[in-house]
Amino acid sequence: MAGVTDQAYRLIAKEMGCSFVYTEMISDKALVYGNERTESMLRISDTERPIAVQLFGSDPKIMARAAKITQELASPEIIDINMGCPTLKIVRNGEGAALMRNVPLARDIVEAVVSAVNAPVTVKMRMGWSRELINAVELAEAVEAAGAALVTIHGRTREQFYSGTADWDIIKDVKEAVSVPVIGNGDIRSPQDAKRMLVETGCDGVMIGRAALGNPWLIRDTIVFLSTGTELPPPTYEERASFALRHLDMLIQLIGEKAAVPKMRKHAAWYVRGIPGAASARIRINASRTRDEMARALEVAFLDPLC
Ligand SMILES: Cc1cc2nc3c(=O)[nH]c(=O)nc-3n(C[C@H](O)[C@H](O)[C@H](O)COP(=O)(O)O)c2cc1C
Repeated sequence: MAGVTDQAYRLIAKEMGCSFVYTEMISDKALVYGNERTESMLRISDTERPIAVQLFGSDPKIMARAAKITQELASPEIIDINMGCPTLKIVRNGEGAALMRNVPLARDIVEAVVSAVNAPVTVKMRMGWSRELINAVELAEAVEAAGAALVTIHGRTREQFYSGTADWDIIKDVKEAVSVPVIGNGDIRSPQDAKRMLVETGCDGVMIGRAALGNPWLIRDTIVFLSTGTELPPPTYEERASFALRHLDMLIQLIGEKAAVPKMRKHAAWYVRGIPGAASARIRINASRTRDEMARALEVAFLDPLC
């Protein structure tokens, strides 16, 4: 998730038992032009592996060059191609979900990337562009024929962005149509949702998105539920406070206090979601300029909400 799954977040997900993590989406052009900030997104530690680096772009040649650079700099276990991002600044360049409207180009991109690298190449897509153009099955078949090793289906159209409910039937349809593994995605908010998606669609794996924001315990709870049927109790406020603080300290270690504190504000706001006094906690969080101020804001939020 762009702006979310940086190295600190990925390490947290791994700590929660996540079997497979993805980088934020990375621009093919920025990599090819040697943009330093973009290259830093390829900093991957061994603890994060296996990992997929996700690339976005619309030109098969540039995508292939970016994939090669990715392989040289980071040797990820998988290179994933984004065909689902709905934002205007992406789709107006023909990237992300816009590729759902251009199946021949999507196929060419996959073919070019597959020939450029040794790592398996996978594709993440939506169910279609709009209610009138629902073509995940067609696109999944096309990218499979082009050499994709796995597809992930988010059961919403581009038109929906992140609203409405995800349609899981399309995941089932794709699973029945292709022979490569299919990962289902959309609206998994509880371990029970994950189980239901696996059962209802027959998909080979599930991908958790927004529900893990500020709640990485969902990953652990889901794994435990799927493997043993046990429902773990939610984390206590103390656990949430100390984990959020550790998240902050990991970020500081990775990118320094000056960059980490502003970056942590949104995560901290997610960690406090739903607790009494969350609104005033967010005000304190957003006013924090240093590690100690942020730590105090978190402590007050969870342990001393009447302060
Ligand atoms: C802030 C944010 C950033 C996202 N960035 C990416 C991204 O970089 N690549 C991607 O494939 N999907 C991205 N997504 C989409 C999610 O991976 C996921 O497909 C979507 O949120 C649906 O799953 P959910 O209902 O469990 O959240 C992003 C979603 C959000 C909310």
